[in-house]
This record gives sequence, C-alpha cells and structure tokens, in this order.
Amino acid sequence: MSFNPVAIRKDFPIFARTIRDGKRLVYLDSGATAQKPQVVIDAELDFYRLHNAAAHRGAHQLAEEATILFEGAREKVAAFIGAQSDEVVFTKSATESINLIAYAMGNALAGNRFHLAPGDEIVVSQMEHHANLIPWQQLAARTGASLRWFDVTTDGRLDLSQISTLINKKTKVVAITHQSNVLGTINPLDQIVTAAHSVGAVVVLDACQSVPHMKVDVAALDIDFLAFSGHKAVGPTGVGVMWGRAALLVELPPFLTGGSMIADVSMTSATWAPAPAKFEAGVPNMAQAVGLGAAVDYLSQIGMDVIADHEHTLTSDLLGKLLAIDEVALVGPLTMENRGGALSFTVDGIHPHDLGQFLDSQGIAVRTGHHCAWPLTRSLGVPATTRASLYLYNTIEDNDALIDGIHAAMRYFK
Ligand SMILES: Cc1ncc(COP(=O)(O)O)c(C=O)c1O
Repeated sequence: MSFNPVAIRKDFPIFARTIRDGKRLVYLDSGATAQKPQVVIDAELDFYRLHNAAAHRGAHQLAEEATILFEGAREKVAAFIGAQSDEVVFTKSATESINLIAYAMGNALAGNRFHLAPGDEIVVSQMEHHANLIPWQQLAARTGASLRWFDVTTDGRLDLSQISTLINKKTKVVAITHQSNVLGTINPLDQIVTAAHSVGAVVVLDACQSVPHMKVDVAALDIDFLAFSGHKAVGPTGVGVMWGRAALLVELPPFLTGGSMIADVSMTSATWAPAPAKFEAGVPNMAQAVGLGAAVDYLSQIGMDVIADHEHTLTSDLLGKLLAIDEVALVGPLTMENRGGALSFTVDGIHPHDLGQFLDSQGIAVRTGHHCAWPLTRSLGVPATTRASLYLYNTIEDNDALIDGIHAAMRYFK
C-alpha cells in the first residue's frame, strides 16, 4: 500500500476545520507540536471515560485496568525505541526528562559514577534547544563542573574538528540533539558516541525532533539516555519519555521523591524501588501515557521508514523551492545530506514576525522567533527566523502554499 498523505489527513480531525475565514489549514509547525489523530484522542478519552483509577495503587478492577493500560503503554513505547520496558520512564515532557537526568546526576554523592565536581566537564553544542542547554548549565553551576560545547559551522553542522579536544578524559556527560529544531541538521552520533564512550562519558540524546520522524533504536545508536516529548509524536501533551540503560538507572539517584517510588520508608529514611518506579514519584500521567501508546501504534502501523521517506521527499521539494527565491536566506544545511524537515529562513526586507503574521492571514501556520535556541540564533547573526516544519500529514500542496505565501508577502511588504 502506498503512502497517501491526503488519506492520512482524514485521521486528524483538526484538518476538517478551516482557518482565518474559511481558508485551508496549512500546518507547518509540527516541530513545535504535532496534530493528533482520532485514535489518540479516543485512547485518552476512553481512559477517563472507562478505566480511570490510580495505576499501581488500588485493589479494585478499575485500578487493575488502569495499571494494565499504563504498563501496556510503556511496553509499546519501549518496543518503538528498541528498549526494555523497565528502562522507559514517563515524565511530563522532554524538558522534564532532561531535567530529571541532570538533577538526578546532581544528587549523586562522591563514589557514584554520576557524581560531578570541579574539573569535570559536560559537553553540549551551540545548536541545542534551551531544554538541552539550561539544565546542564545549572548542573555545572551547582557542581562546579565546566560546560563546553561544539560550535556550529556556517553550513549548520557541528564543528567536529573540535571533537578530540572537547571530549577528553575530564568529560562526564555529552548531551546532544539528534536533529536540530532550527537547522534540521541530523548529527553524526557514531563519532560522538565512540568518542564519549572511549573516555567513560555518558551520552544523553535529545531525540525530540528525531523520534517522531525516523526510526530511532537506542540499542543500535549505543547511547545511554534519551528524551522525547509525546506531543511532537502525534501523542498527547503532558507526557514525555526518559529512557536510560538499565544498568545506569540502577546507579542514577532519583530526582523527585514521594509516593510510588520507594521500596521501604521509615520516619527518617527511605529506600528506592527499582526503575522505572524510582523515577516516577506520585500518581502518574496515565491517560496521557495511554494516549502516547496509541500514538506510537499509529506511527508504527504506517511505518517510521515510510514516514521518513515522505518527509524526505517533502523537505527536498521545499528546500529546492526556497533556495530558488533570491530574497530567501536559509539557515542550516542547503543539501539533503543528514537533513530533516525543519527549514528556517529569513526573507530580505521582511521581519520574521511580520512574515509569520502575513502567512497566518493566508491560513499557513509557521513558527517565528529564536525557536528556544537563542545562542544558536545569535551565532547565526539573525534576530529571528521563520521556520516551516514538516510531518506525515503535509503535502506538496502545503509547500506550494508556503512558497505562494512568501511571494505574496514580498509583494505586500514592498
Ligand atoms: C530539540 C528539542 N529539544 C527539546 C524540546 C523541548 O520539548 P518540550 O517543550 O516538549 O519539553 C524541543 C521542543 O521544541 C525541541 O525541539
């Protein structure tokens, strides 16, 4: 069966509505959040309608059903990323997942492999989303460790010439994005993981912009931790995933403490349950996790390779059409090599916010600004950019609508 995005759009109720006085919705903002298919909405709704109870807590049928659904969602997510289910921790978002890892490392005492102290180094890159930068800045500030980073080259790639000096025997953590939410760059993980592991450092992968768009297998990538958000992968808001290697989750101290994450408690101390419970204090986000389970089922039924191929075709088409406009300056790779479907650009003479507003008046949803990657935007020497980000429900017609919109904006603002 060949992939048909027009049929796929019918799975997403939002595409039945119009925008700005009857215009077709051209949604090019999936990098911020993806639209939801009916099966995901139904799964979340059905949880509340039929099964709502506190998972792992009650002695009654509803609690049993809630537990089965919640743990079933964990198994689905684990299979989706090539992990074991007890390595998958549900959080509220990728932001929380990365904070969990960084705060938990900060809780490690001397002797624990995650203990950081002055002289230790954490490596990030200049293309990180704030969610994979600030938690590490803060960890460095709390522990006395130093933060170091890969620069970004003018063609939007990591400057790998720095790898042997940046990743050295002082390095404890390398936290890197798989795919840039601004540039669309897909980073060369092999080299980074090999370099990190050769000095005993762990690799934390921000997979927010990759897990929804391509097959990601944690075992094949040989990484140590991974974070992504459900809402960017056609799942609900309020659920994210933190994956960690089983052996590392044994040693990593907890971040949040409280109910459900303990083995034993006295008035003065407590011991921890094994992972994943150790990292899931409190009644969890069950309905959202169940919705995410439905989302990964939905994506898997289509096939991540099929989705990636479709996005490749769309990205290549849009890249060519943007590059053909003299007034458009694209930031990020200008070729399709290791490039995903986030395309950020400026248009000569039009402020990105004005362009965003103009496109919105045409029914075209894009993102404008620094895209939560302020150091990167600064390094590119632009105040802001306009970003179109593509997903499985986009079509060549959407690309053409954007290109027509840019031409119309150029006429309007001139
Ligand atoms: C690359 C990247 N990392 C992290 C995040 C943070 O995700 P969330 O806001 O869902 O926690 C985003 C969101 O845009 C992102 O694009």
